[in-house]
Amino acid sequence: MRHFLACLTAVLMFSAAPALFAANSGDADIDKRIDELMQKMTLEEKIGQLNQYSSTFDVTGPAPTDGRNQERFQKIRKGLVGSMLNVTGVEATRRAQQLAVENSRLGIPMIFAFDVIHGYQTMFPIPLGEAASWDLEAVELSARVAAVEAAAAGLHWTFAPMVDISRDARWGRVMEGAGEDPYLGSLMAVARVRGFQGANLSADDTIAACAKHFAAYGFAEGGRDYNTVDISEHTLRNVVFPPFQAALDAGVATVMNAFNEIGGTPATASAYLQREVLKGEWGFKGVVVSDWNSIGELVPHGVAADLSQAAQMAMNAGSDVDMEADAYVEHLPKLVKSGAVSEKHIDDAVRRVLALKFHLGLFDDPYRYSDEKREKERIYNQKHLDAARDVARKSIVLLKNQDNMLPLDKTKGVIAVIGALAADKDTPLGSWRGKAVANSAVSLLEGIKAAVGDGVEVRHAPGPPLGKGERSFLKELELNFTDPTGMDEAVAAARGADKVIIAVGEEAFQSGEGRSQVDIGLKGLQMQLLQAVKAVNPNVIVVLMNGRPLVLNWIELNFPAIVETWHLGSQAGHAIADVLFGDYNPSGKLPVSFPRHVGQMPLYYSQKKTGRPGPDPAGMVFWSHYTDAPNSPLYPFGYGLSYTTFGYSKLKLSTKKLDFDEDLTVEVTLKNKGDRAGTEIVQLYVRDLVGSVTRPVKELKGFKKVTLDAGASQKVTFKLNAEALAFYTARGKWEAEPGDFQVFVGPNSRDLLDSRFTLKGK
Ligand code: BGC
Repeated sequence: MRHFLACLTAVLMFSAAPALFAANSGDADIDKRIDELMQKMTLEEKIGQLNQYSSTFDVTGPAPTDGRNQERFQKIRKGLVGSMLNVTGVEATRRAQQLAVENSRLGIPMIFAFDVIHGYQTMFPIPLGEAASWDLEAVELSARVAAVEAAAAGLHWTFAPMVDISRDARWGRVMEGAGEDPYLGSLMAVARVRGFQGANLSADDTIAACAKHFAAYGFAEGGRDYNTVDISEHTLRNVVFPPFQAALDAGVATVMNAFNEIGGTPATASAYLQREVLKGEWGFKGVVVSDWNSIGELVPHGVAADLSQAAQMAMNAGSDVDMEADAYVEHLPKLVKSGAVSEKHIDDAVRRVLALKFHLGLFDDPYRYSDEKREKERIYNQKHLDAARDVARKSIVLLKNQDNMLPLDKTKGVIAVIGALAADKDTPLGSWRGKAVANSAVSLLEGIKAAVGDGVEVRHAPGPPLGKGERSFLKELELNFTDPTGMDEAVAAARGADKVIIAVGEEAFQSGEGRSQVDIGLKGLQMQLLQAVKAVNPNVIVVLMNGRPLVLNWIELNFPAIVETWHLGSQAGHAIADVLFGDYNPSGKLPVSFPRHVGQMPLYYSQKKTGRPGPDPAGMVFWSHYTDAPNSPLYPFGYGLSYTTFGYSKLKLSTKKLDFDEDLTVEVTLKNKGDRAGTEIVQLYVRDLVGSVTRPVKELKGFKKVTLDAGASQKVTFKLNAEALAFYTARGKWEAEPGDFQVFVGPNSRDLLDSRFTLKGK
C-alpha cells in the first residue's frame, strides 16, 4: 500500500501521531476475544451484527412503518441488529442499548451512528467552507469538537468525512466535501479523521470516522445525484482514490460504499472496489458499511432480480454492513446454507464489526458513552461556540475588494443590511446539520449589530423571500420567483445609506443530498434585488451564503466588494462581522473553481492540456475552447484576497537536476506589501511535462499558511521529491517518471511564478 502520509508529513507537523485504528495493525488480545465470542454465535447472530437499522426519525430515505418498527425491536432483543443510525442522545441510546444488551442471548452491544458532518449541535462551516480555510489545525479542531459533542450524546460513529472529489457544482453534495483537488482533499480527510477519532477510539470523547462514498460518487453524469458514473481507472487512481488512501493511512475505522454504479457495476456490488482494492491492495481491516439501502438499490439498478440476489452480490463483493435494506438479515442465512455465500465472508465481516466494538470499548462497558452530566456540559458550550466562530472566520474568502472598500468603519455611518438571507438564523447552519436547533445561528444582521458602536445606524429590510413554505432536509425547497413583496422596502433602505451589505446565495437546503441543479446562478428574485439596489447605491458589499460554487459574472462586474461566506455554522454572523469590520483579516482561498457559466462543468484547475491547447496562432477556430466563453474560471482554485497584499519573488530551486532519492527545496520570498498584518496561503504546484500518460497542466503539491506583519518578508520553503511526483502511470504503477518538471509558486492556481527542474532516472 502506498503510504500517502509519508509525502504529507511536512504539512502535518501540527498534530500528534495519527490515531491508528489498531484493527489495521492487528491486535492479538482483541483477536482472541473475538474468536471466543464468535465460537458462541449462531449464523443468525453473526449476520445480525451486519444488520444496521435507522431509528424512524431523521431518515434519509423511506422510513419503516410503525408495524415494522415493532418487528425491529424484536430483532434487537434477539441480537439481530448490530448497529443503529439516527438514535441520538444519552437517554435514547441507553434505552436502545438496553434492548440489545439485556435481552439478547450474548448481550453484544450495538454501535450508534449518526451523520455528524460539520458539527453535532454546535455547527461549524459546511465542509466545503472549512476546506477554504486551508487550515488543517482548524479542520481537525472542528471534527474534534463534533466528536466531543457526539460522543457526549451517546454516539460512537459518524458517517464522515465525505472525501469525494467533485468537479461539478451542479452536484448538491459539493458542499459536503473538500472540493476539487485530491491533494487538498487528502489533507482535509486526514485532519477530519484525526479530529473525530483522536488518539484512542475508546476514549469518552472520540468516535469512529467513516471515509465515504467509495467510490467516485462525486463524478455523477451531469452532476445529477445518484446518477451513473463512468470513470477510467486513470482518474480513479489519480484523483478519486488518494483521499481514501490518506484516510486509511490516518487510521480511519470505517468506509462507506456508494449509491452510484461505475462502468455498469454499482459500487455496493463491486468486488473490484471493495475486495480487490480496498481490502486487498490497501489492506483495509475496518468495516465497510453500505450506503442507505444501497444493497436494496441493486434491484432498481437492474443487476439483482430481488433482495436475496442483492444480498448475495453485496456480501460477495465485500460490503460488510447492510444499512437499512433488510437484505442481509432476511436473506444471508439461507444464502450461506445454500452455498451461494461463503461463511468465510460472513465471518470476516463479523470480525470487522466486533473489532470496532472492542476498539470503542463497548464490550468493557456498553454504556460508557451514556452520561447525562457529560451530555449537558459538553454539548453546545461556550468553548465550542468560540471554536466555531474562529473556524468560521478562517473559512471566509474575500473575492473582490475594489478600492479597499472593506473593512468597514464600525464607529459611524449608515449601513443598510438587506437580502433574504441577511436576518436568516437558519441558513448558516447549512445542510447535514446534525442536531442543530433550527434558527439557532447568529444571523448576519445580529453579527453586524453586535459589532458596531452606537455611532452606526443599521437599517434592515430583507427584500423578497427566497424560499416559500417548509424548509426541510427531506423535501424539495420551493423557491419564490414571483412574489416581490419587500423589494421596495429593501431598495428604500439601500438608498442613501453609506454602505449596503446585501446577503444573497442559497438557503441551507438548496445544496446537499438530492439537491442537484442545472442552474447555479442566484435563484428567486435575488438578481432583481441586486439590480434595483445597484441603481440607487453603488457602495454595495455582496455577502454570499452558499453550498456550491455559483456563477457570479454579473456581480463581479457590478459590485465593488464580494465576500464568500458559504454556510458558516452557529456563529456565522459574528464571524462575517469580524471580517467586514476588519477585526479579522481574511485569508481563505477557494477549494473549488468558480465558473463563468454552468456549461463549463466539470471545471477544475488541474485539467489536461489536450492535443489542441490553443489559441490557434493563425486565429483559426480549431482548438479546444468554447466560442461563447473563455475556458478559464471566473475565480480560480486557490484564489482569495486579504486586506493586505502579498508579493512573491525570488523563486529558487536547490537543484535543477534532482536525483531520484533526493529532496528538492523550493524557496520563494513572500512580502507583506500592505499596511496591516495578514495571512497568506502560499501554494506550490507542479507540472510533469511529458508522461507515459497525459498529465494535468498543474497539480497542487504543497501549501503553507504564513502570517506576516505589515512590511515584513519571509522565505517560504517547500520540499519535493520523487514520491510527491508519483502518479498512476501507463505501467499500472504508482511511481514518478524521470523527466522535466515545471514548478509554480504563488497565491492561487493562476497567478504563479515558475521554474523548472529535471528528475533524473534511478
Ligand atoms: C447518504 C450517506 C449517509 C446516509 C445515512 C445516505 O443517504 O448518502 O452519506 O451517511 O444516508 O444517513
